[in-house]
Amino acid sequence: MQKNPNPEWTLLYFLRFKLRLCGTKEACGEGGCGACTVLQAKFDESTGKIVNAAINACITPLCSTHGSAIITTEGIGSVKAGLHPVQERIAKSHGTQCGFCTPGFVMSMYALLRNNPEPTEQEMEDAFQGNLCRCTGYRTIMEGFKTFCKETAPSANGCCGGKGKNGGCCMDGFINDGESRTELADTLFDPSEFKKYDPKADIIFPSELQLN
Ligand code: FES
Ligand code: FES
Repeated sequence: MQKNPNPEWTLLYFLRFKLRLCGTKEACGEGGCGACTVLQAKFDESTGKIVNAAINACITPLCSTHGSAIITTEGIGSVKAGLHPVQERIAKSHGTQCGFCTPGFVMSMYALLRNNPEPTEQEMEDAFQGNLCRCTGYRTIMEGFKTFCKETAPSANGCCGGKGKNGGCCMDGFINDGESRTELADTLFDPSEFKKYDPKADIIFPSELQLN
């Protein structure tokens, strides 16, 4: 609890410079990149429900978070205490390179799962609309996090008269150097190595913030 907070402080400033929780990153500083994403959980008195949202800490005044619980990437897991499944999957799917955007992607995915433990792929993609990555090209991040999603049925026919596998391109999985076609490994990771995601193991909303 911070007594008499400076009304000019942002949540990001408070986390990084007062609490020394430096997992939450600052990049654009103006709500455009998602590097500073954290989860805000609030008790909604009108519905009696807890509302979880991914927010940009760089544009959130600290004072506006009064009465809510803020969860950062340090709060959900660490190498020492054990990684949260979201952290583990982005790492094992090679979804992080320089790592600067990674805590933001992790917290956006975590917020989505808190609201919906089995999202669709479209819901997952929508949840990342505010997260930018300058390194990975996104594919590895999406592939890793897709493992949390409901199975989506592949469309029946691919290109070239249906030769494409799972409704995709017939060249998926091959490198064509003009003379020969070489089959590529079609997996980035082995999902059987992943920890199972159990929503019941997630952090519980503090009862003192739950007003009746
Ligand atoms: Fe870019 Fe906050 S630092 S959205
Ligand atoms: Fe470098 Fe995303 S891993 S910005």
